[in-house]
Amino acid sequence: MLEGELVTLRALEPDDLDRCHRWMNDSEVTRFLEGGRYPLSMANEREWLETATRTRSGFSDVILAVETKDGVHIGNAGLHEASPEHRRAYLGIVIGEKDYWSKGYGTDTVRALLRFAFEQMNLNRVELGTFDFNERAQACYRKCGFVEEGRRREDRFIDGRYCDLVIMGILRREWEAASHT
Ligand SMILES: CC(C)(COP(=O)(O)OP(=O)(O)OC[C@H]1O[C@@H](n2cnc3c(N)ncnc32)[C@H](O)[C@@H]1OP(=O)(O)O)[C@@H](O)C(=O)NCCC(=O)NCCS
Repeated sequence: MLEGELVTLRALEPDDLDRCHRWMNDSEVTRFLEGGRYPLSMANEREWLETATRTRSGFSDVILAVETKDGVHIGNAGLHEASPEHRRAYLGIVIGEKDYWSKGYGTDTVRALLRFAFEQMNLNRVELGTFDFNERAQACYRKCGFVEEGRRREDRFIDGRYCDLVIMGILRREWEAASHT
């Protein structure tokens, strides 16, 4: 388990299925996510979860459930496609329970993942992409030390308009400098 101040990150379990399925069919949540526009069947979500729970989390793919300290499963997060040569991975997060948005849970989750990425996985860089209109996510990532590195202009068509994909990243030395000040 990875411990934050507000959250615990644990392995996903088969019982998490109904919640994950509900989040992945809530357009207020999925409009911020890659590939989120198409409704997802229970069978599709079960298949995804079976793979996620059957395969041990490991260096190349870490996927975890985000729980509050009193045991409420509010979302999922992970580090994906870690490269042993480049020491880099992509961070993904969804707080699916909307009542928990903007209360610090995302920031605490990202901080716990970064600590794990740099102190345990020995990564050098963590990267992510977020849509330009996702200002809450960008604020959350900035608080954790990510900086904007560039934009893929009009990369996505969402809710009737093209939007930029904002690329954000943090290097280990930046994280260390911020952690020790
Ligand atoms: C993005 C997400 C992970 C952030 O987690 P969170 O717990 O809601 O965010 P936090 O409370 O930790 O931090 C968000 C910050 O943004 C601020 N914020 C909220 N809405 C904002 C807005 N519209 N514009 C600017 N800042 C905003 C909050 O006030 C907070 O800052 P503060 O702590 O200084 O007040 C979460 O909202 C989520 O999963 N959303 C849906 C899916 C998603 O967007 N995933 C990320 C895809 S890249």
